[in-house]
Amino acid sequence: MRRMINVMAALTILAGANAAPASAWAQDNPQVAEGSKLYKRVCFACHASEAGQNKIGPSLFGVAGRKAGTGPGFSYSQAMKDANVTWNDEAIDQYITDPKKFVPGNKMVYAGLKKEDERKEIIAYLKTLH
Ligand code: HEC
Repeated sequence: MRRMINVMAALTILAGANAAPASAWAQDNPQVAEGSKLYKRVCFACHASEAGQNKIGPSLFGVAGRKAGTGPGFSYSQAMKDANVTWNDEAIDQYITDPKKFVPGNKMVYAGLKKEDERKEIIAYLKTLH
């Protein structure tokens, strides 16, 4: 019996060791997985995540770290082109909290996502699009 317990313990350790590198993959990151679901529900109607696919809004492929209003082939509002913002975590967070307030006069017709944890999840997902 004691031997059996030792074997079990060894297997548990092995399983843990196997799980560790896998969690580095974006798909296995629970925050990214939640963000992906939320994105499909709230943003996808207007934004594609593939490069070059502009819908009502610009493709969000590569948006993290990009200067506002510079996605290829999209017709941005003058307000967005003049925003002089680079989309880091903080800027995306403020923008999707209240788009009208962060970039007055921009044309994203979206009321804002009030839950901070949901914004963090979407931002984690957006950062995988590159
Ligand atoms: C009703 C359609 C609509 C929805 C829903 C929407 N967006 Fe947008 N979004 C737009 C439009 C249109 C623009 C371009 C705004 C402009 O040019 O003034 C935009 C712009 C953006 C930009 C700036 C992109 C750039 O290249 O500068 C980001 C970031 C963004 N949206 C993120 C999101 C996220 C994240 C969500 C979901 C929480 C979302 N949007 C939901 C229509 C939408």
